Amino acid sequence: MKTRSEFICAECGYKSTKWYGRCPGCGSWNTLEETSEEYEAASVLGKKDIHKRRTSDSSLSVKLRDISASDNIRILTGISEFDRVLGGGIVNGSAVLLSGEPGIGKSTMLLQVCAALGNSEKLLYVSGEESQGQIKLRAKRIKAETDELYIFTETEINNICDEIDVISPDVVIIDSIQTMYDDESASAPGTVSQIKNCAQKLIRYAKTNNCAVVIVGHVNKDGAIAGPKVLEHMVDTVLYFEGEKQHSYRILRAVKNRFGSTNEIGVFEMRENGLCEVENPSEMLLSERSDQVSGNCTLCVMEGTRPILVEIQALVSPTVFPSPRRMASGIDYNRVSLITAVLEKRLGLKFSSQDVYINVAGGLHIDEPSSDLAACIALISGYKDIPVPDNVIAIGEIGLSGECRGVGYIENRINEAVRLGFTKILIPYKNYLKLQKNKKYGAEIIPVKSLFEVLKLFI
Ligand code: TYD
Ligand code: MG
Repeated sequence: MKTRSEFICAECGYKSTKWYGRCPGCGSWNTLEETSEEYEAASVLGKKDIHKRRTSDSSLSVKLRDISASDNIRILTGISEFDRVLGGGIVNGSAVLLSGEPGIGKSTMLLQVCAALGNSEKLLYVSGEESQGQIKLRAKRIKAETDELYIFTETEINNICDEIDVISPDVVIIDSIQTMYDDESASAPGTVSQIKNCAQKLIRYAKTNNCAVVIVGHVNKDGAIAGPKVLEHMVDTVLYFEGEKQHSYRILRAVKNRFGSTNEIGVFEMRENGLCEVENPSEMLLSERSDQVSGNCTLCVMEGTRPILVEIQALVSPTVFPSPRRMASGIDYNRVSLITAVLEKRLGLKFSSQDVYINVAGGLHIDEPSSDLAACIALISGYKDIPVPDNVIAIGEIGLSGECRGVGYIENRINEAVRLGFTKILIPYKNYLKLQKNKKYGAEIIPVKSLFEVLKLFI
C-alpha cells in the first residue's frame, strides 16, 4: 500500500497535487485542504491482474430492449408540490440532494414528507443536528406522528449503514451531510473529502439495498452547496429550497433531475404548524395589490408548465444625482436598463433625468422576456403618474426597436389571467393572429404591435 496526498478546495472541490494559497478553481483564499488516500500501486498488482480479471467468457452486458422499465417504481408522497418537482414522486433506490440556506425549512419539509409517507413506507430519519426530543417537538408541532418512522441521531456513517441493514427502510433521510463523518477515513471531520466519502458510501449502500436516500446539504452564503459541489454529480436529483427570509413562502426547484424535468417548481408557505402547499401561487402573489396607484402592472410568467401571475412595480422620480439611479429587485438589472433605454429612444420619455426603482412584488424572481411589456407599462405609468386599471394584464417581449414580440404558452397565460378575473389582456400581435378566431376567452384580448400603441392607452 502506498499513500498519495492531494489538496482539495473546501469551496468548489478543485483538486490539485500541490498546495495553493488561492484556489485556481474558484479563487477563494486558504481553502485547499490536504487529504491522503491509500492505494495499491499497479506494479504490485501486476498488469495481468488488472486487465484479465474475469474468468468466464460470457458477456455481462444486457440488450437495451431486454431491460424492463418497471425498475423505477416511484413512491408518491402525497404532497403534490413536492411530487411534481421530483417528476412524480421519489424513485425507488434514487439519491436526492435537498439543499438550501440554514433555517429555510429543509428539516420541516422532510419531516412532513415522512409524515405523509409514514403509514405506507418504512422510513429512517437520521439527524446529526437535532436531538430526538427536538425532533419529537417539531413532529408534534406539525402533527407528523406516524407508525413507521424511525429516528436515529447519529453522525458516523458506518453506524448509519449498519442501521439501514437492520431496519431495511424504503427511504433514508440524512439531515445533514455536513454533520456526517467516516471513522475509516483519515481526513478531518467536516472537510470536503469526508463529506464526499460519506455521501459516496451512503449512496452506494442505499442503491444496493434498493432504498431511496434523501440528503440535506446546507448552502453557504454564495448559494453554492457548502463545500461539496461534488455532491451534485453523485446524486440523481438536486433540489433547491429557496425563499426570502422576510416572506413566508418558499419555492422548491429541481436543478438536476435524472427522472423528470427540471423546470417545475413547488410553492409552499411556512406557517406556525409547518409548510402548507400553495396550489394557486398567483392568488397569493396578487392578494396584496394596492389599487389605483401609478407604476403597477400585472404580468404572467411560466414556471415550468404553470402560469404564475405577479405584479411588477415601478417608481419613477426626478433624480438629484448627476447620473440617475437604477435599482431592480426580482428582475434582471440589465433588462431594466435596456427597457428604459428603449422607452427613452423610441417614445421620447426622458428617463435619463429620472431615478427608476423597479420591484417584483412578493419576492419572486422573474427572468422571462415575456415580462418586458408589463415592465414598460409600469414604467410609463410611473413616469406619467397615471394608474393602470386593475383589470389589465400585459404579456409580451419588447425588442430594441420597440416592437412587441411573441411569447410561448399564450393560451395557458390567458386562461390563468381570466381565472383570476382580469378582463383586458394585452398580448403580442403575433400571438393574437394565432389565436382561434371564434373562441370566447371571457376577456377582451388586445393585440399589441409596438410600444407606440401602449402609449396611446395612457392618453
Ligand atoms: P428548519 O426546517 O429547521 O430549517 P432547516 O432545516 O432548513 O435549517 O426550519 C426552521 C424555521 O422554520 C425556523 O425559523 C422556524 C420556522 N418554522 C415555522 O415557521 N413553522 C413551523 O411549523 C416550523 C416547524 C418551523
Ligand atoms: Mg435542519
